[in-house]
Amino acid sequence: MIKNKLGIEKIAKLKKEEERISKQNAISFWMQKKYREIDFRKIDSLFVIHTMLFDDIYEWAGKLREVNLSKGGFQFANTNFLQENLKRIDEMPTASFEDIISKYVEINILHPFREGNGRSGRLWLDCLLLQELNVVIDWSKLDKEEYMYLMKESVKDSSQLIVELKNITTADVDNREIFFKGLDFSYYYEEQYEYSSDELADEMKCNNEINN
Ligand SMILES: Nc1ncnc2c1ncn2[C@@H]1O[C@H](COP(=O)(O)OP(=O)(O)OP(=O)(O)O)[C@@H](O)[C@H]1O
Ligand SMILES: [Mg+2]
Repeated sequence: MIKNKLGIEKIAKLKKEEERISKQNAISFWMQKKYREIDFRKIDSLFVIHTMLFDDIYEWAGKLREVNLSKGGFQFANTNFLQENLKRIDEMPTASFEDIISKYVEINILHPFREGNGRSGRLWLDCLLLQELNVVIDWSKLDKEEYMYLMKESVKDSSQLIVELKNITTADVDNREIFFKGLDFSYYYEEQYEYSSDELADEMKCNNEINN
């Protein structure tokens, strides 16, 4: 059981609340265009995103993990090498689509956080693509199995991932529906699909109107 700031002791309840709260945080971040205040070329920005999403829930939001992690037979970077790899990734270029995806692949291999690497990484990736190339990825065009296959392959060879993600980029960057569906897909990749972003956003708007 993961210790959390909410005092929740049941794993299913934590998973649900984590989805609801962090999705709401992502929605506010996007609606208020807070991403405009951040330089996503620097790796610090990934820590800002992770904090923004999870600080209400975990003490270790935005902090490097202290345990080793593996998934599907792949061992992510050893904790002893996180700092030096971060420095190297920070210096990777971001001028082209290929540069940016290569940086994302390295961030995934690093897996800097205890939890939430997938969701924070994809949001960071969209923000960087928006900043540098004025496009975002329409994640709703990529189903989970295909995405996971591409990510597994990417640790050996990222060329297929680059081609497939390029195929589903869109210049319609201010489109609420694309962002919300993309966010829901990003969470669905991680088995979180209790809440729809569209409904959460409407609820948040409603609450704001009542409070004002
Ligand atoms: N075997 C693998 N090889 C390479 N990358 C992987 C592998 N399995 C998962 N990933 C990548 O890691 C991401 C998240 O996986 P994981 O469940 O380890 O992280 P997490 O920290 O729990 O993230 P989240 O909480 O957002 O689910 C996936 O979305 C995918 O991009
Ligand atoms: Mg997870």
